[in-house]
Amino acid sequence: MTSRLALGTVQFGVRYGINNKKGRLSGSEAAAVIRRAAAAGIDTLDTSQAYGESEAVLGGILPGISPAFRVVSKFIAAPGHTPGDLLSGSLARLGRKSLYAFLYHRFSDFRDYPAWYDELLGLKAGGGVEKLGFSVYYPEEIQSLLEKGVGFDLVQVPYSVFDRRFEPLFPVLKKAGVEVHVRSVFLQGLAFMDPSGLPPGLAAMGPKIGRLRTIAQKAGAPVSALCLGFALRDPHVDRVVIGVDGLDDLENNLSGSARPGDTEKALQDLLGLSEKNEELLLPFKWKK
Ligand SMILES: NC(=O)c1ccc[n+]([C@@H]2O[C@H](COP(=O)([O-])OP(=O)(O)OC[C@H]3O[C@@H](n4cnc5c(N)ncnc54)[C@H](OP(=O)(O)O)[C@@H]3O)[C@@H](O)[C@H]2O)c1
Repeated sequence: MTSRLALGTVQFGVRYGINNKKGRLSGSEAAAVIRRAAAAGIDTLDTSQAYGESEAVLGGILPGISPAFRVVSKFIAAPGHTPGDLLSGSLARLGRKSLYAFLYHRFSDFRDYPAWYDELLGLKAGGGVEKLGFSVYYPEEIQSLLEKGVGFDLVQVPYSVFDRRFEPLFPVLKKAGVEVHVRSVFLQGLAFMDPSGLPPGLAAMGPKIGRLRTIAQKAGAPVSALCLGFALRDPHVDRVVIGVDGLDDLENNLSGSARPGDTEKALQDLLGLSEKNEELLLPFKWKK
């Protein structure tokens, strides 16, 4: 059966994550994670041209894997390049003829490179990519696309027990036929940290992380199961993109994603963890 989890691969290309003690995955660990994900019915991988070696690492692993994954990659526009160049680069590194989706990694590029969207539509018509879309951080970015009537196929947005800013947009996106992928369900690993040991700039998250631990204890469930279950329970979410530091994390998340009853039991408490402060929700704003 197809899983609604998708595997994020920033950890394959760079050292990443606020709680990361292991560094970047080795090539053999990355291959083992991919094989296990395929066996578990995960059909979608998320990567980007901005994730160091991630695309190239995937290009070395994917040819031996069956069934074939859907690959979502992202680009960053730059003067002297075209969407076609950037897509060709991703395809060459990944060793594929087409992508499932190609997303703007930086929303500002949509505004700063006005001719690019039509060129991207041409690449889609030519079969180089099945879906076009945006990876964003702010609901207003999606709202402005919807208001302008820009046609797009897929979005990737942050969503977690803490960050529910996009929730009102999910039904609107589904009605418009847009595929919804959510990321950062563990807030880069912050959800697992000792609330008393957070960096000073994130200490304000301590009480909510502590409450999440207490809720998990009360429900007799791991924190990972509640974070995953919360995102998976939204029927508008097509894929929950998870980052892992190795096979152990993946195994825990596979078993955690299969415990929806824990989330239902803890739901009222989880709903109390919502946070509005973007200085705490958005990793690029974190003062560590
Ligand atoms: N702008 C964008 O488009 C964008 C931005 C960020 C991420 N992404 C994508 O989304 C994916 C997910 O990234 P994210 O940062 O949002 O990460 P996340 O999924 O919220 O957290 C991932 C981190 O949580 C920890 N973790 C995961 N499962 C665990 C478990 N069961 N037990 C304990 N720790 C666990 C691991 O770090 P430790 O073990 O080191 O704690 C892992 O690196 C990325 O791989 C990337 O593909 C996209």
